[in-house]
Amino acid sequence: MIEIQEVTKQFKDKKNYVTALKHVKFSVKEGEVVGLLGENGAGKTTLLRTIATLLTPTEGAVTVSGYDTVKNPNEIKRMMGVLFGGETGLYERLTARENLEYFAGLYGLSKHRTKVRIDELARMFGMRDYLDRKVGGFSKGMRQKVAISRTLIHDPDIILFDEPTTGLDITSSNVFRQLVHQLKREGKTIIFSSHIMEEVSMLCSKVAMIHKGDLVYEGELEELYKDEKSRDLNYIFMSKLVRGNEHYAS
Ligand SMILES: Nc1ncnc2c1ncn2[C@@H]1O[C@H](COP(=O)(O)OP(=O)(O)OP(=O)(O)O)[C@@H](O)[C@H]1O
Ligand SMILES: [Mg+2]
Repeated sequence: MIEIQEVTKQFKDKKNYVTALKHVKFSVKEGEVVGLLGENGAGKTTLLRTIATLLTPTEGAVTVSGYDTVKNPNEIKRMMGVLFGGETGLYERLTARENLEYFAGLYGLSKHRTKVRIDELARMFGMRDYLDRKVGGFSKGMRQKVAISRTLIHDPDIILFDEPTTGLDITSSNVFRQLVHQLKREGKTIIFSSHIMEEVSMLCSKVAMIHKGDLVYEGELEELYKDEKSRDLNYIFMSKLVRGNEHYAS
């Protein structure tokens, strides 16, 4: 269970304060796949980084399986895999396999377990042909697959993906989608941000929509469709944003 308890996050930018999250409150149960939606600058990455223990809330708290992200970050990191958009965090001079071995080592995986896990992931993502090539020469999609594998190397129960399919071609995006289906079957808890509504409607049971730091909707997708009398998530999202604005302006 992930509990986001009235989280406010402010950044100090020279003399200005930027409030990226405003009293955001919702929870995610074990085994749920949650889509995080919001325009550019809405606060999605900030929220994911806060859950991942990488940012400290200005107000409020986040707990993961009862552990507080500020007080017990190490317990949380062990059970969590995170992937942030843009920064794959891979070592260019190492091969894909060496990169994965390195990260497996950080989680204390045995040599045998590491080998088995790398084989599994390489098969799943079709990386076997380039597993022993240096990452420096990889295309964006190849890097993203290694980065996703890195996120999953220790078989975490909770997975955070920040715009995982940005930059991937259709084939790789589909591989990612299949992967999420598989992780869902395994009972993993997943939160991922995306600008692709189709992807969210295909993969998620729940959505959370953030607009300029405010949570404007959080709940089951099916209920949202019923309430809005539409199954067009694009349309629903846009209309929620407009109404969210009205609500918070009053
Ligand atoms: N380290 C930082 N210093 C100052 N401001 C920041 C910092 N990180 C984020 N912000 C600000 O917080 C707000 C939310 O940013 P965030 O990256 O969370 O948005 P996002 O929803 O992930 O957007 P995108 O879809 O573009 O990735 C923005 O106004 C951003 O400029
Ligand atoms: Mg972002």
